[in-house]
Amino acid sequence: MGIPRLIIDGDRLMTMQKRQFDTLIIGAGGGGLRAALQLTQADASVAVVSKVFPTRSHTVAAQGGMNAALANVTPDNWHWHMFDTVKGSDYLGDQDAIEYMCRAAPKAVYELEHFGVPFSRLDNGSIYQRPFGGQSQDFGGDQAARTCAAADRTGHAILHSLYQQNIRAKTHFFDEYFAVDLLKNEDGQVLGALAFNIHDGEPVTIEAKTTLLATGGAGQLFKTTTNALINTGDGMGMALRAGVPLQDMEFFQFHPTGIAGRGMLITEGARGEGGYLVNVDGERLMERYAPKVKDLASRDVVSRAIATEVREGRGCGPKKDHVMLKLDHLGEDVIQKRLPGIRQTCITFLGIDPAESPIPVFPTAHYTMGGIPTDRYGQVVVPVKDTPEEPVTGLYAAGECACVSVHGANRLGGNSLLDILVFGRAAANHIIDYLKDNRYHKPMHQPSVDTALERMHRWDGNGNSDDNTESIASLRNELKTVMEAHCSVFRNDDVLAEGVNKVEALSKRMAYARIGDSSQVFNTARVEALELENLMAVALATIHSAYARKESRGAHSRIDYPERDDLQWMKHSLYSLENGLDYKPVRTRPISVDSFPPKARVY
Ligand code: FUM
Repeated sequence: MGIPRLIIDGDRLMTMQKRQFDTLIIGAGGGGLRAALQLTQADASVAVVSKVFPTRSHTVAAQGGMNAALANVTPDNWHWHMFDTVKGSDYLGDQDAIEYMCRAAPKAVYELEHFGVPFSRLDNGSIYQRPFGGQSQDFGGDQAARTCAAADRTGHAILHSLYQQNIRAKTHFFDEYFAVDLLKNEDGQVLGALAFNIHDGEPVTIEAKTTLLATGGAGQLFKTTTNALINTGDGMGMALRAGVPLQDMEFFQFHPTGIAGRGMLITEGARGEGGYLVNVDGERLMERYAPKVKDLASRDVVSRAIATEVREGRGCGPKKDHVMLKLDHLGEDVIQKRLPGIRQTCITFLGIDPAESPIPVFPTAHYTMGGIPTDRYGQVVVPVKDTPEEPVTGLYAAGECACVSVHGANRLGGNSLLDILVFGRAAANHIIDYLKDNRYHKPMHQPSVDTALERMHRWDGNGNSDDNTESIASLRNELKTVMEAHCSVFRNDDVLAEGVNKVEALSKRMAYARIGDSSQVFNTARVEALELENLMAVALATIHSAYARKESRGAHSRIDYPERDDLQWMKHSLYSLENGLDYKPVRTRPISVDSFPPKARVY
C-alpha cells in the first residue's frame, strides 16, 4: 500500500494517493472478474478499477447464453464448434485462438457451475443448452444446441457469481473510480494507470507490475444500441493514446433483434426457442435469405435480411421501418420458463406480451468485434520493425475491448461470454507466470503521470475560455447520429467518405468543448467528457478502417464491393492515432488440427 504524497497542481496543493499491486485490472465485467479471481486465488495482489459498481458492468446484460460443446442436447464436440466459429468469422478469425477457445469451453462452463452459476437444467439434471445462430453438427450439418443458458439472464447469473467469488477471495475493488490513462516507466513499459474517485474527484496512481484492460465494448458509438451508457470504449481509447493500434475496428456487429427504434436486446435465444421473423405480408422472411437454417443463420446474415426487407418496402408499422418477431406460438409456459426477461422487457417498455403479440424488431448496434490486439495468452501485441506482432511486456487485454481474434468479421451469438471467461483466465495464467520472474515494482516516469493528470484536469472547468462553447452532450449525440448514418449494416464509398469527414470534424470540435464553470462541475460531467474523448478516438478507428476495406466480409457489408476478396483483404486492419492504417496477416494455423480454408459462407 503506497504512502500519500503531495503534488503541486497548478496553483493548488493536493494530496495524491499512490497504491501498488501486482496486477491492475481495469473493468469489472466477466473478463476482468474471471482474471481477478484466478490471480487472487494464486496469491497475487489485485486491484480492480470499475467506473460502476461491479455487478452493473455490461456482462450483466448478456441474455441468451454461452457456447460450449457439452453435447447435453445434441451430439457435439469442440472441433465442430471451432468450424462454426471460423465460418461465422468469415475466415478472418485467428484459428489458433479459436481452437484454444472452443477446446477450453466445456471446462469454463463447469468452472462457472462450481462457482455457483444457476444454469437452467434439463429434466435429467444436466445443463440446458439451446440452439443459437450459426451452430451446426458435423461441420455444417444439422443444427446444434450448444448455448448453455440461465433462462435469458445468463450474464446476470455469471457476473454475480464471479463477483461473490472475488469478494470471498479478497480481490481489492476500486468501485466507481474512473481510469484516465495508462502510466509508463522511462522505457515506455506500462506500469498501471491514473484513476480518480468519481465521488470526490481525488486522483490515485495505481502502480502495477502488470495491467489488464477489460473495459468492454463501444456500443455507445451508435444511436440505437443494446449497450449500456457505460460502453464507451475506454480501454480502447487508453490503448490508442498509449500508442497501441486497434485491430479490425470496421467489424461492428448489429444484433438482428433490437426493439425497433429503441435498441433493447431481444435475445437470439427467442429464435433458438422457435421464434421467427415475419414481414408486412406475414412471410417468414428468412426462408428467402437462409433456406436451410432460416432464423438461425449467422447474425450478420439475419441483420442484412431484415434491413433488406425494410429497404425494399416489406417492413411493418406506419413507417414500414421494422419487422416482427413472432413468439406467441411457443406458448406462455415456454416463454415464462426460457425467456422471462425479454417478456418483462416487452411488457414494461412496449406494453406488449410476446406470449400474445409479435415484437417489433430491427438491427441494433451490439458488439465490437475489433479491439486491442492480443495473442491467445491475453498479451497485447503490436507490430515491431518487420514482425507483424510482438508482445508488449506487462500489458494485457481480455473480453470485448480486446481482439484476440476469435470473432473475426462476425461473432457467433453465445461466443462472447465464452471469450471473456476463457481469455480472462488465460491472461491471468500468463500474468501469474510473469509475476514469478518480475517480483519488484519498477520506477514510474513522472512525466507520464503528469500527462495523465493534465488530461484529467482539462475537464475540471478551469480550462474553459470564451472559445469553449461546445457541449459534451451535443457532441456525443452528433457522433452517435453520424456513426449510425454512415457506418451501419450496409455501407458504401460515398457514405463512408462523408462519415470520415464528419467524425474528423467532430473530433476537432472536442478542443472547444466545455463542461461548465469550475465551481459547478460535477465529476459525472468530467467522466462524460473523458468518455467522449475515448469514443471519438474509437470512432476514428472504426470509420477509417471501414472506409479503407473495399470488400464485404462478415458484418462489414459494402454495397459497392459486395463480394469477399480473400486475395487482397484476408488481413487484419490496425489503426493507430499516429500512423493511421496498417495491416497484418490472419493467423490461419490452428494449434493442433488442420486449418479451415476459406469457403463461400452459406446457411
Ligand atoms: O442474443 C443474445 O442473447 C446475445 C448473445 C450474445 O451476444 O452472445
